[in-house]
Amino acid sequence: MKITPVILAAGQGTRMRSDLPKVLHPLLGKPMVWYAIQTAQEVSDERAVMVIGHGGEEVRRAVGQVVEFVVQEPQLGTAHAVKQAEPLLRGSTDLVLVTCADMPLLQADTLKSLVQAHMVRGQSQGKWTPITLLTVSTDEARGFGRIIRTQDGDVQAIIEESEATPEQLQIKELNAGVYCFSAEWLWDALDRISLSSKGEYFLTDLAALAVSDGFNPQALTAADLTEVIGINTRLHLAEAEAVLRKRKNQALMQSGVTLVDPATAYIEAEVEIGRDTVIWPNTFLQGNTSIGVSCTIGPNSIVRNSRIGDRSQVFASTLEGALVEEDVDIGPYAHLRKGAHLARGVHIGNFGEIKDSYLGAGTKLGHFSYVGNTTVGANSNIGAGTITCNYDGVRKHPTVIGENVFIGSDTMLVAPVKVGDRARTGAGSVVTKDVPADSLAVGIPARVIRRFSKSG
Ligand code: UD1
Ligand code: CA
Repeated sequence: MKITPVILAAGQGTRMRSDLPKVLHPLLGKPMVWYAIQTAQEVSDERAVMVIGHGGEEVRRAVGQVVEFVVQEPQLGTAHAVKQAEPLLRGSTDLVLVTCADMPLLQADTLKSLVQAHMVRGQSQGKWTPITLLTVSTDEARGFGRIIRTQDGDVQAIIEESEATPEQLQIKELNAGVYCFSAEWLWDALDRISLSSKGEYFLTDLAALAVSDGFNPQALTAADLTEVIGINTRLHLAEAEAVLRKRKNQALMQSGVTLVDPATAYIEAEVEIGRDTVIWPNTFLQGNTSIGVSCTIGPNSIVRNSRIGDRSQVFASTLEGALVEEDVDIGPYAHLRKGAHLARGVHIGNFGEIKDSYLGAGTKLGHFSYVGNTTVGANSNIGAGTITCNYDGVRKHPTVIGENVFIGSDTMLVAPVKVGDRARTGAGSVVTKDVPADSLAVGIPARVIRRFSKSG
């Protein structure tokens, strides 16, 4: 059975009061529409079709090639939106699974149950139906369509709030806006929908149409009301963020991660964390970040687009685009920027800033230093207050420091410059020329005053 998801995303979203298309507003670090795509992909291997319109080009650029796009122009309602997928799908799919891009909390399991229910009915003699829809029962109407049933409980129609009678408005069973259709019936049925008083073609009219065709529409009631919350305002956006964050944190804890205070652990959707890692309060783990096993991160840390190896520690620090190997300890108050790569066992103390640099295994940078465009070998010591002067106002220049080097406190390394293996610089020296291996350089500008014997 071929199931093709169709995600509706052409609506305007005026109530967000935003220049950004509604479905691109971020939730847990990903655009809202990402969740609808993820969920669709969990239910079907078929490439989803996304109907775009308002802000369509921006949505297309943000989403990329993971879905097939069709443009709805002008936007004449939800039935008209689904209709736009017909040229692509007619004759090539058995089922059409319709969801909305602004329902990021809908879970794949719920969609799977919907499809399952539809297929089971398809196999039972005389009970075939071209439509299975998701409903919710709640006192909070939220502007949703009402489900009209007969006394026997058969679904008769969906009535939009704008067209409902006072009695119909009392109905507590609501249309979630998620449907599974049999394609062979769907496309022609869409042509038979007439224009509503609102000037739109309502997809919801398909329920009554199925009944008049002699079928019994099937309804599945969602167990969890929060799943079908649609995002229309910034208030809804914050509600959804809270639910998604809670889900992410719960999944991490279930997988063996300790969150000391889940309420202040802000962990984005795609972050991966190994077991026995402890996340202290007020910690932000963002973007494409992965953290190994038995690490300690936080409190008060931000880790963005970075990888951290096993058993490392980050204490009250900020990492952006950094690669940290195993057994590294960082902070408090360190700042690792793009291209910082710390090898195994590196120690970074307070107020270290590192950018586009490699620090070899076991190297230490204890206090107040800036290291940029630099390579440091293993087991070197960068003294307090060391600065790599990498920028001449126009270009960046490299600094190369060997292994087992001792850079004295407050050394200025004026790049491009090299300091050889086992060399030392005196406190406060300004190094403008290369320092050979096994030597001591001091002064301003620094000059070599001693050569060490290579005793190893
Ligand atoms: C719709 C349902 C309503 C249901 C509610 C659940 C209809 C007529 N009503 O109402 O019964 O309770 O969802 O959330 O379907 N869209 C397009 N093109 C359009 C219009 C809408 O792509 O021309 C998209 C929107 O971007 C959105 C989805 O369809 O993703 C739903 O549209 P929306 O206007 O939010 O419908 P509701 O009024 O909420
Ligand atoms: Ca809506």
